[in-house]
Amino acid sequence: MSVPELVAQAQRRAARLGFGMSCEDPVGPLLAVLAAGVPEGGRILELGTGTGTGTAWLASGLTGRTDATLTTVELDPGLVAAFRESTWPAWAEIIEGDAAALLPHLGHFDLIFADAVAGKWTDLALTLDALAPGGVLVVDDMDLSRYTDPAHRAAVRQVEDTLATDPRLLTVHIPAGTAITLATRRR
Ligand SMILES: C[S@@+](CC[C@H](N)C(=O)[O-])C[C@H]1O[C@@H](n2cnc3c(N)ncnc32)[C@H](O)[C@@H]1O
Repeated sequence: MSVPELVAQAQRRAARLGFGMSCEDPVGPLLAVLAAGVPEGGRILELGTGTGTGTAWLASGLTGRTDATLTTVELDPGLVAAFRESTWPAWAEIIEGDAAALLPHLGHFDLIFADAVAGKWTDLALTLDALAPGGVLVVDDMDLSRYTDPAHRAAVRQVEDTLATDPRLLTVHIPAGTAITLATRRR
């Protein structure tokens, strides 16, 4: 898959700002593929915008559609301002704030990329509650071997266990890139 222009812009912002937490392949193209599959009127949520790389991949999957929406949440006002340097489609919005505080008020989503501390390493239950029936959750950076900090290793295991054992979910771990876990909320 070629790199969409909005992704290239987000990557340039990341380089300029020294932001090193942007999503890496193959999760970016995977987000585009999954975004393309959301149902009519679909709602997509990203927790943790960064400079907008994941948002841009998600947006690329919605190319040509006007029925779906994309919301991304970012805590850092500087990153929110950087994100706004690009011209985003009218159906894409950024909300500045803490994902954990916002999640109970955002409604339900057909696709969630949980990529902030809150809503993933903490408060994962809030994210699962926001997943619509049939909705898909994506988390990356799930390769345990990349981490030495015991607290972070415990957090990875906790997230993996929660997603694997929640009876509402059907979950798969994909050992590609930084390792991805996908979970679909059963209808
Ligand atoms: C891994 S980066 C996101 C990368 C981005 N999703 C991408 O694909 O390029 C995590 C982001 O989450 C933001 N963040 C951290 N805590 C947050 C919180 N409680 N609520 C919302 N965003 C948060 C950070 O400022 C950072 O930009």
